[in-house]
Amino acid sequence: MRPNNLDNFWMPFTSNREFKENPRMIVSAEGMYYKSNDGRDILDGAAGLWCANAGHSHPKIVEAVTKAVRTLDYAPTFHFGHPAAFELSNRLAERFPENINHFFYTNSGSEAVDTALKIALAYQRSRGKGSKTRLIGRERGYHGVGFGGISVGGIVKNRMYFGSLLNGVDHLPHTHNPAKNSYTRGEVEHGCELADDLEKLVALHDASTIAAVIVEPFAGSTGVLAPPKGYLKRLRELCDKHDILLIFDEVITAFGRLGHMTASEYFGVEPDMITIAKGLTSGVVPMGGVAVKDNIYETMVENADAPIELFHGYTYSGNPMASAAALAALDAYEEEDMFKRTRDLSPYIADVAHALKGEKHIIDIRTIGMVAAIELSPRPGAPGARAFDVMKGCWDKGLMVRVAGDTLAYSPPLIVKKEEIDQMFEITSAVLRQVE
Ligand SMILES: Cc1ncc(COP(=O)(O)O)c(C=O)c1O
Repeated sequence: MRPNNLDNFWMPFTSNREFKENPRMIVSAEGMYYKSNDGRDILDGAAGLWCANAGHSHPKIVEAVTKAVRTLDYAPTFHFGHPAAFELSNRLAERFPENINHFFYTNSGSEAVDTALKIALAYQRSRGKGSKTRLIGRERGYHGVGFGGISVGGIVKNRMYFGSLLNGVDHLPHTHNPAKNSYTRGEVEHGCELADDLEKLVALHDASTIAAVIVEPFAGSTGVLAPPKGYLKRLRELCDKHDILLIFDEVITAFGRLGHMTASEYFGVEPDMITIAKGLTSGVVPMGGVAVKDNIYETMVENADAPIELFHGYTYSGNPMASAAALAALDAYEEEDMFKRTRDLSPYIADVAHALKGEKHIIDIRTIGMVAAIELSPRPGAPGARAFDVMKGCWDKGLMVRVAGDTLAYSPPLIVKKEEIDQMFEITSAVLRQVE
C-alpha cells in the first residue's frame, strides 16, 4: 500500500506539517527491527511506543491472534462472556501482587486510567465514604489523554487547551531535581521527603475529601524520572494513614520493563490498583486494563445497590482477539524468560548509556531497568528542537528513538541483544556530533 496523499490522516501527538513534508514511514516489522518504506532496517530502540516488549510480530502472538479471529471474531462481555477473558484474568492474577486478583479491561492506557479513577470514586461511595471524591495526581505525570487522565496529569500542553478539566483535583510536586540527582541509575538518592507533601494536601483538603492518589512508579513521558529511594513506600504509608487509595499507573512499567511483572514488585510497594496496557499484548492488539485489589472488588460487589455493580465498560472490554494476544504475550514472556533477561541486561544498558557522559549537548543521563534517557541542553528559545533533530538523525541512520521534550528515551523490546544496545548508543553518539 503506497498512499499518495498524506493529508487525510490527522496524526496524533505529531507535527502534521513536519511529518507530511518528510515522512518517516514504517511498512513492516520483525523482532528488533522495523522496515522503512525505502527498504531500510530500523532498529527499534523504543519498543514502538513502550509496548512491543516481546519484539515485533512474535510468532506465538501472531498465531494466537490469527487463531482467535478465525474462531471468535467478537463477543460482547456485557451480560455474556467468552473463555479467553476469564483465562487471561486468572493468568494475570497468578502473577500480579498477592492481593490484586481482579481485572477490568479497556482498549488503552488512557481508558485504564479513567476507569481506575472512576472505580476509586465508586468504591469510596459504596463503602459509605461518598465525600471522598478528590483525586490527587502529580506534576509531570502522564496518565493518558482522557479528561480524567489529563486532570490528574501534570503536563501543561496536555491540559491547557482543554478547558477546566475535572474539578476537585490537586497535585503532588514532581520529584525531578537535577541539582541534587543527576547521572542516576535506578532510584535516585534525594527527594523521598517530597512524598510528605501529601500531608500538606490532606491538611488543606482533609482526608475525608480525598479518594485516591495516582502516580507513575517512574515518570516515563516527561523524561524517565525514577522515584527517590523510599518515596513510593512513604506514599503508601501516608495513603494507609489517611485511608486514601493508591493507584500506580503502570501502563509502561508492567510486563517486564523493570525486569518484573510489575513495578510494584520491583519497588516492593503494593498499590490498591494498577493500570496496565501496552506490554499486556506486547502492543499487538490494543488492550488496557485495571488490576484491582480484592477488597475493592468485593466491597463493590457486596454493597451494590443495583444488579450491575459498576456502571462502566467498553464494547471491546476483554475482546477475544486482544485476550488471545495477551495470553500469548504472557506465554512468550515466560517461555523465553524475558523478565530475568531484562534484569540481567539492565546494568548493561545503564553502562553503555552512561558512557556517553561528556558528549556534546548531553546534560544528564538517567537509567532504570531496561530504560535509558539522555537529556540534552535545549536550544535557546526552542525547547525540544535539538532532541527532535537528533531523533530524525537517528531515523536516517537506522534507529527509532523516542523524544520527550529535550530527552531521548530508550526502551527497546526486551529481546534486545548487547550488540543492539551498543548500536543504539553508537548511532546516537554519531548523530549528536552532527547536530547543532
Ligand atoms: C503512564 C502512562 N499512562 C497512560 C498512558 C496512555 O496510554 P494510551 O496511549 O494507550 O492511552 C501512557 C502512554 O504512554 C503512559 O505512559
